[in-house]
Amino acid sequence: MLTKHTNSQIVVINAGGQYCHLIARRIRELGVQARISSPAEAVRELGTAKGIIISGGPSSVYAADAPIFPRELFDAGIPILGICYGHQVLAHRLGGVVKPGRTHEYGKATLYVIQGDSILAGLRKKETVWMSHGDEVVRIPPGFQLLAKSDSCRVATMGDNQRKFYGLQFHPEVTETPHGTDILRNFIFCICGSEKNWHVEELVSKLKTQIKTQVGDRHVLFFVSGGIDSTVAFTLCASALAPDRVLGVFVDTGFMRKHEKEEIKRLVVERRWKNIRIFEAADLFISALDGEANPERKRRIIGDCFLRVQEQVEKEINLSDGGWLLGQGTIYPDTIESGNSEKAAVIKTHHNRVPAIEKLIAEGRVIEPVKEFYKDEVRIIGRQLGLPEELVSKNPFPGPGLAVRCLCSESENPIQRSDSARRVALKYRLQAWDVPLQTVGVQGDYRSYSNLVILSGSAKLETYSEAARRITKEIRGTNRVAFLVSPADSRVLKNARVCRSFITKDRLDLLREVDHISHQMLTNAGLAADVWQFPVVSLPLTLKGGETIALRPVYSSDAMTARHANLPLDFIRRVDERLRKLKGVDMVLYDVTDKPPATIEWE
Ligand code: XMP
Repeated sequence: MLTKHTNSQIVVINAGGQYCHLIARRIRELGVQARISSPAEAVRELGTAKGIIISGGPSSVYAADAPIFPRELFDAGIPILGICYGHQVLAHRLGGVVKPGRTHEYGKATLYVIQGDSILAGLRKKETVWMSHGDEVVRIPPGFQLLAKSDSCRVATMGDNQRKFYGLQFHPEVTETPHGTDILRNFIFCICGSEKNWHVEELVSKLKTQIKTQVGDRHVLFFVSGGIDSTVAFTLCASALAPDRVLGVFVDTGFMRKHEKEEIKRLVVERRWKNIRIFEAADLFISALDGEANPERKRRIIGDCFLRVQEQVEKEINLSDGGWLLGQGTIYPDTIESGNSEKAAVIKTHHNRVPAIEKLIAEGRVIEPVKEFYKDEVRIIGRQLGLPEELVSKNPFPGPGLAVRCLCSESENPIQRSDSARRVALKYRLQAWDVPLQTVGVQGDYRSYSNLVILSGSAKLETYSEAARRITKEIRGTNRVAFLVSPADSRVLKNARVCRSFITKDRLDLLREVDHISHQMLTNAGLAADVWQFPVVSLPLTLKGGETIALRPVYSSDAMTARHANLPLDFIRRVDERLRKLKGVDMVLYDVTDKPPATIEWE
């Protein structure tokens, strides 16, 4: 198995949260080695640990399947920082009380610092922090002091300076907590006394050595998509091993972006890669999805199709059984969101984590050189490998491609004025509509699959965002809100209905064109640099027999959390005008939900 750290200094205990690896990464960004462990493994790491961090997790400390934290961890005399669920573990294990919170809290909150020293040294009296939790600590354990609170959380930070134990109800590791890194820095350097011992430059040569060891004298077959992750993983293997032992296959699934195939062909010529082949499989993938509307099942079908193609390629090139490995460009968020880390909930099964692939992984027949890294770390590796900047800085694109941006429905249903969101919408002089179409979200570390709410009316983007924040917070079962960009007369929504619709070549072609135009316009308007990703989604929501297009530009640094982008309204209107000239586009929406509670992709 590939791992990027050998000697650990800070042990991050994975309690199953979505952000566990992000904590480890932040520690490494501060120049200190970090190792991720289960609670039981952490006991064996105590000899080399300078400090322990207990991550967030989806469980409640009272849940029957909550992770068990051995007593030795708390008796070892090593500093501990508990984050979110980890904070509750500290309270629960050390004599405090944890109860279900009065409200579930997701998103930004204000932290009121009561004691600004030790773990909170250097922070101001009021700080913005990111909360995502249900339960909360209501009584701090003996020996601890209250260090900070928030409006809806009585114990937002607690600490015991004697034992050097600290608990934070919020997430310091996400970019939405602007001074979160200062808190982590306080912990690892001032409280634990760590020294800098992690250098990114050594990474590529270490990775190549690990690849050589894992592959031995076997061959590697890679499916490359033209995206950054699979290209970097392929290039790493191709430069670590003799070129004739690594074969790249670009599968045209029919779900790629416009010109993607041509770009990969160009790269093959430029890099003089002789070992890449193109495999046409659009018919296979599109027909396999016929009649399927459920996102998880769609993802599984796509994963299985990749395997069928693999079997066919394997037969064609006559690779003897056991003499080859399957290479994948899996990166860390793919693994965590597929629920593959112990105790983490499944948010989305990525195509490279379907059961058939899991079986190959269990047999030791898969190599994933970048699977422990986040997207921007993969970009750093890509640059060190000398890959072209256009590729390295390309917008991320999901493995199942446009198929998960083309929503489907098994039934026909009208949309209706929303009773539940009406009160909030009216406060902002907007109208709210319930759309009987579900999309995926992540709330308090769990997957949600809930109905979409559309807002209509005339308002500034910030007003829609504020209304969306309140609706997703206050109305259970709502994880995504978009506003109607056009048609201008929102009364037509009365006639809008979700229609029975599945993946077809025509729908994909329309979406491909819409995606291409939207991205070109973003780049031409000089707005692309700030936007981390710009999914464009097609919904079977129709007025005149066509579709609805939802624009979903987001700001993010690692895709674990994201904010919807505040693009200028006049730009949004220009894109809308252009898209509505395409035959088959009836309506245009703009997604104003953050992650959490929504995910970046709609399914
Ligand atoms: P979500 O939608 O979960 O996405 O907020 C986070 C990031 O992951 C990408 N994504 C995928 N990437 N295979 C991938 O390689 C997949 O199945 C997949 N699903 C989502 C998504 O585009 C975003 O950048």
